[in-house]
Amino acid sequence: MRNEEKAQMCDATMFYLITFAHSIKKIYMKLLEGKVAIVTGASRGIGEAIALKLAEHGASIAFTYVSSDEKAKALEERLQGLGVNAKAYKSNAGVYAECEAMVNAAITEFGTIDVCVNNAGISKDNLLLRMTPEQWDDVMTTNLKSVFNMTKQVIKPMMKARKGSIINMSSIIGIRGNAGQSSYAASKAGIIGFTKSMAHEVSSRNIRCNAIAPGFVETDMTHYLKEGEASTAFLQKIPLGRFAKAEEVADTTLYLASDMSSYITGQVISVCGGLNI
Ligand SMILES: NC(=O)c1ccc[n+]([C@@H]2O[C@H](COP(=O)([O-])OP(=O)(O)OC[C@H]3O[C@@H](n4cnc5c(N)ncnc54)[C@H](OP(=O)(O)O)[C@@H]3O)[C@@H](O)[C@H]2O)c1
Repeated sequence: MRNEEKAQMCDATMFYLITFAHSIKKIYMKLLEGKVAIVTGASRGIGEAIALKLAEHGASIAFTYVSSDEKAKALEERLQGLGVNAKAYKSNAGVYAECEAMVNAAITEFGTIDVCVNNAGISKDNLLLRMTPEQWDDVMTTNLKSVFNMTKQVIKPMMKARKGSIINMSSIIGIRGNAGQSSYAASKAGIIGFTKSMAHEVSSRNIRCNAIAPGFVETDMTHYLKEGEASTAFLQKIPLGRFAKAEEVADTTLYLASDMSSYITGQVISVCGGLNI
């Protein structure tokens, strides 16, 4: 064989090896190819990281927010840049009619809903003696009623398709409680009870429902914990000695959204650096 022919054969072999490697990567790395996911409260923080992670794994994304128009637009464009269909919806997760309209619009746009991540949440921390009924109601409505609002809508297409994964963002505070966070803790504990009940209710239709309980995650919600002496005290309580990155919560969400967790339902997974040992 001439040197020229040998070189041509070598090039062809390299080409096939690279193509083969890309195919393997595509098969194994994209866990949500062709799926449609809703993520509530994704204009910032954990929700944004989740939307990006699910899109990186091939899912089309319908996400909601309430006030951050520019951030939502920027995320929509970033998601589309990853090669998936993506749309932002200004929709208050605490208002039933808005959730109904949002899910209907998403079904019209995307055709179905395979995954719903109920992530939208707020905190209005105060000692109970100082907490107003309005503060209590705001937290319960945004954090807990929102999960009812969205789940009631998304289980319709999921029951029809006989598959689906619902992931609810609870918190370590919903498991352990915390002074000054009674409303937040109650809303997040409520999410756990709701999640387990839903798992009982819809498992026969192959719909899974799980919760994630993050510890302290670096987002706008916790920025005040990172300042001054309080931050050292917080860090000392965390066995892994650091706050979580939003991406680390997104990794667990990806796992629960994908078929990698096909036999897991009704569970609460703590992503808390060991706080819940
Ligand atoms: N950060 C933590 O340490 C931590 C720990 C445990 C659990 N969590 C939970 O994780 C979730 C996300 O927290 P985060 O730290 O990422 O919060 P964040 O940075 O404050 O972001 C909150 C997101 O929720 C959206 N949102 C707020 N109210 C909404 C409503 N009524 N309807 C729709 N969207 C709404 C916000 O939209 P706008 O931008 O439009 O306001 C924003 O996109 C929350 O459920 C939180 O309780 C957080």
